[in-house]
Amino acid sequence: MHRAKTHKVKIIGTGFYAPDKILTNADLAKMVDTTDEWIVSHTGMKERHIAAKDQATSDMVIHAGKKALKHAQLEAKDLDLIIVATSTPDTIFPPTACWVQAGLKATHAAAFDVSAACTGFLYGMILAESLITTGVVKRVLLAGAEMLTRVTNWEDRNTCVLFGDAAGAVVLEESRDESGLLSSFWGADGNLGPLLLQPAGGSRLPASHETVDKKLHTLHMKGNEVFKHAVKRMTEAAEEALKRAGLTKDDITWLIPHQANMRIIKATGERLGVPREKVFVNIQKYGNVSAATIPIALDEMRTENRLRRGDIVVMDAFGAGFTWASVVYRW
Ligand code: ACO
Repeated sequence: MHRAKTHKVKIIGTGFYAPDKILTNADLAKMVDTTDEWIVSHTGMKERHIAAKDQATSDMVIHAGKKALKHAQLEAKDLDLIIVATSTPDTIFPPTACWVQAGLKATHAAAFDVSAACTGFLYGMILAESLITTGVVKRVLLAGAEMLTRVTNWEDRNTCVLFGDAAGAVVLEESRDESGLLSSFWGADGNLGPLLLQPAGGSRLPASHETVDKKLHTLHMKGNEVFKHAVKRMTEAAEEALKRAGLTKDDITWLIPHQANMRIIKATGERLGVPREKVFVNIQKYGNVSAATIPIALDEMRTENRLRRGDIVVMDAFGAGFTWASVVYRW
């Protein structure tokens, strides 16, 4: 029997950053054979943000992290740990979290990345929770950040319309009241990895003229297959996490699903039995920003006063790996 935790971890600061440049569906229609109508009807996306040439993933995290620290009324030196969830790091090594640690001057913080694609932020939250509740660290800056437009094949209409760049961050510490992380569930199925991957650039297929010529450093996806698994796994993950918290779908104030496709968001909400007005959606503004999606949603909801004390928030994600996770949180 799983029980809701008594020892909770709480979000004490949120922040997000999206680059200034916006790429609209109309812009994309000039680049590949697509239309605004197709993109909106098949994905729900209208525009996405694109990083400037001289920006790296850590630059976005530093912006988002400063905002989260300000909201938490803390300074960077108060952090014990920085975790960055990303599949598009500044460099394979050092970790993006180390570039962030230097940029923020978080001199007392250890730093590493989590690689779990779109699920990375929730994997990071589950990890941070265990490190805080076991006393290893006190305060964690957890970011989800992605510059997927750097690994996009701009000639492939099947994928280039889907992704954007952004970063979101939260500051976590032990909760001294009723609010905080109540339960979680995570899973993976590595057998399905080839359905969504960046084939080259790692040890399996190092960079060569051939990998560049064949565009193997860009994202490859079997969209239909990913779609089916996403709905199934996100539904299961949320149901299991709710069960672990001793709650049901009727207790949900907000469902924050990963924003990969409006139809996935709708189908997951319907399967869970959550009314449309309780399902958070901002896909029209950012497209799929992978690991950045959920922390951005949290910051937007907080700054727009859509979150009230006591609200039950279910965060739910699915991504390459495949990986999936859900976190139940009392605001
Ligand atoms: N504009 C116009 N036509 C297009 C476009 C486009 N941008 N993209 C694809 N099409 C065409 C296809 O070529 C195809 O044409 P055909 O029938 O002549 O071959 C037709 O539209 C239908 O293609 P489908 O792939 O069946 O389209 P679908 O309705 O499944 O939508 C999509 C594709 C949007 C990719 C969808 O499958 C999806 O969202 N999948 C899930 C993606 C996802 O969840 N990713 C999550 C993780 S991401 C991560 O971890 C980094």
